[in-house]
Amino acid sequence: MFARISGVGSCLPGSAVSNDDLVLRGIDTSDEWIVSRTGIKTRYLAEPACSASDLALVASQRALAAAGIEAGEIDLIIVATSTPDFIFPSTACLLQSKLGNRGATAFDVQAVCSGFVYALSIAEKFIRSGSHKKALVVGAEVFSRILDWQDRSTCVLFGDGAGAVVLEAAEKPGILASALHADGAYKDILSVPGNVCAGQVIGDPFLRMEGPAVFKFAVRVLAEVAQECCAAAGIASSEIDYLIPHQANLRIIESTAKRLGLSMDKVVVTVDVHGNTSAASVPLALDAAVRDGRIQPGQKIMLEGVGGGFTWGAVLLEF
Ligand code: ACO
Repeated sequence: MFARISGVGSCLPGSAVSNDDLVLRGIDTSDEWIVSRTGIKTRYLAEPACSASDLALVASQRALAAAGIEAGEIDLIIVATSTPDFIFPSTACLLQSKLGNRGATAFDVQAVCSGFVYALSIAEKFIRSGSHKKALVVGAEVFSRILDWQDRSTCVLFGDGAGAVVLEAAEKPGILASALHADGAYKDILSVPGNVCAGQVIGDPFLRMEGPAVFKFAVRVLAEVAQECCAAAGIASSEIDYLIPHQANLRIIESTAKRLGLSMDKVVVTVDVHGNTSAASVPLALDAAVRDGRIQPGQKIMLEGVGGGFTWGAVLLEF
């Protein structure tokens, strides 16, 4: 028993917010600084009433429509998010309720920007075990909620959005290999170090990052984990048709492609338009490349993520 993606969908809230719009909102930055350091030109920011499960719902409905199946047929729902609607119930259960699905296994995965890759790899293992047949795997974030808008070194980098795939049992392999890793020794270079206790926020509820340390770490592990997946599947990295890396920063993406010997026309880039949407970034980029016709059946696609924890991972699949 194998697992193949049968449908992809995504959702972005509201309209694009440009770098100049951020300057107009009073942030001490410039389009030139943001574009030259990160490649980001716009991002999408959700209104306060819009939650991760709202974005997940639309992305999921689009993925289900693309797969040609009904929500009631889904027997596994996994949502990767670091910005859940509530402490509990899980965003996966809230999505399940909004979709009108009852009885499926449903839970969240917390692996920050690697979350979607973690969730997809977990779903594949459920399907290959024979216990589940049709999974909905979602990355959904409202990262704008955890940004300190007084901290220009982080608030310009992130955006909101959701992406979803339907993963179904199949006789022919879709997912060829996956690898997931973490090293909690790096917990302090990217974190939201706060919690709720006795009705109050204890610690710091905003995203904090040591940018250069994150940069160095991400470039190294993204190349390593892609090579690990290629080796597990018995292919050379030159056989990858499209690389879909976590969309954090164009310079990280370019360095990763270079280390893998891939030209940039084999890399899907959406960070310029979406900013860094954490767990949503990989499925948002996958959906963009499927819908514009770049990704075709039979191609080999490498998805990879890296994020707070630190976590990192990759999934190699045949589309
Ligand atoms: N606008 C203008 N100036 C700024 C801004 C801004 N938005 N932010 C910081 N600066 C200034 C700093 O204050 C500093 O000024 P100073 O020299 O007068 O003190 C100067 O720019 C340089 O700051 P650095 O932090 O050294 O800038 P650097 O070139 O390292 O770029 C960046 C910062 C873009 C964050 C880079 O380190 C990076 O890309 N790191 C990777 C982090 C990342 O992508 N994280 C995403 C989340 S993690 C993940 O998804 C895996």
